[in-house]
Amino acid sequence: MGNRKMQTGWFLAAALALAALCVLGLGQCGSREQRAEKNSIRLGILLYRGDDTFVGTLRQSLEEQAKRYEKETGIKVVLNIEDAKENQNTQNTQAERLISLGYDALCVNIVDRSMASTIIANAMAADVPVVFFNREPVEEDLQLWEKLYYVGADAKESAVLQGNLVVDKYQQDPSSIDLNGDGKVNYVLLEGETSHQDSLIRTEWSIQTLMDGGVPLEKLTGGIANWERNQASALTEQWLTQFPGEIELIISNNDDMALGALDAMERLNIMDKINVVGIDGTPAGMQALEEGALLGTVQSDRTEYAHAIFTIAAAMALEEKPEEKLTLSDGKYYWSRQVPVKRE
Ligand code: GAL
Repeated sequence: MGNRKMQTGWFLAAALALAALCVLGLGQCGSREQRAEKNSIRLGILLYRGDDTFVGTLRQSLEEQAKRYEKETGIKVVLNIEDAKENQNTQNTQAERLISLGYDALCVNIVDRSMASTIIANAMAADVPVVFFNREPVEEDLQLWEKLYYVGADAKESAVLQGNLVVDKYQQDPSSIDLNGDGKVNYVLLEGETSHQDSLIRTEWSIQTLMDGGVPLEKLTGGIANWERNQASALTEQWLTQFPGEIELIISNNDDMALGALDAMERLNIMDKINVVGIDGTPAGMQALEEGALLGTVQSDRTEYAHAIFTIAAAMALEEKPEEKLTLSDGKYYWSRQVPVKRE
């Protein structure tokens, strides 16, 4: 009996010590293990801008993934989705809050790719893994900790596929691209954010691919429209007025800006057969393609993209190994598939 009393006393003391460690934020008593036992996980999804079309499609696919995962595994998923409205300080605060609430992992679409260190430091201190996506943090930051990952679509690959859409068409029938048959293709270029890794790489490799494919390019002008349909529409309207009847090809770093260019053409009632190419394969982009307004786009497999983000985050949340669930490059990177789609 005395022994039982001693044992109970010992357990009580141990439990109190454990509770004290928890209160102090020390020890392995966090809510993460408890939730894993309870078969539930909580993931924070931080978006750089909630109204970005392509990021919106990823958000929707992530929600679908979460539902499918719940059905397949019986593990309940709580997704907390936050919009930073293009403000890095806002996003840092959102991350801090979710970390302090005991979220199991964060999926971060970082506002400024050179400013990931604050979120990383907070996540490391609380042992909360982070899957960055779509906006790639600089490499030194990603190397800071083993529980940091990146999921994206390879920018050079998108650009080469986009360039080849035009090269193929030009090789089949040069007059379908060199509309006035003067031996050069006058183009304008719509670029995404200057600070985004995809803008620079896409621009460089689209043009390089066209040149390598023998398309005789002549640049009329170009400008930054930050991935946005309205900005692209305003810029294109300006160019159409500045170069009447001269533009033969509009190369856009994404579909939304390509759609903006089409909006401007429609507004000015321009019936020229200017070719427009985009990247992303968003629902609106695919519709413009089907209607014959867009020559081509490069479609990201958003289901696979979101599946990779979700799978890594869920595995980390349950203390499992992501590399056992999918194939990663250099142990940290997952590159999602993309396919070229053209009008015909
Ligand atoms: C790009 C995408 C753009 C835009 C941007 C936001 O990969 O092509 O449409 O969504 O990401 O980071």
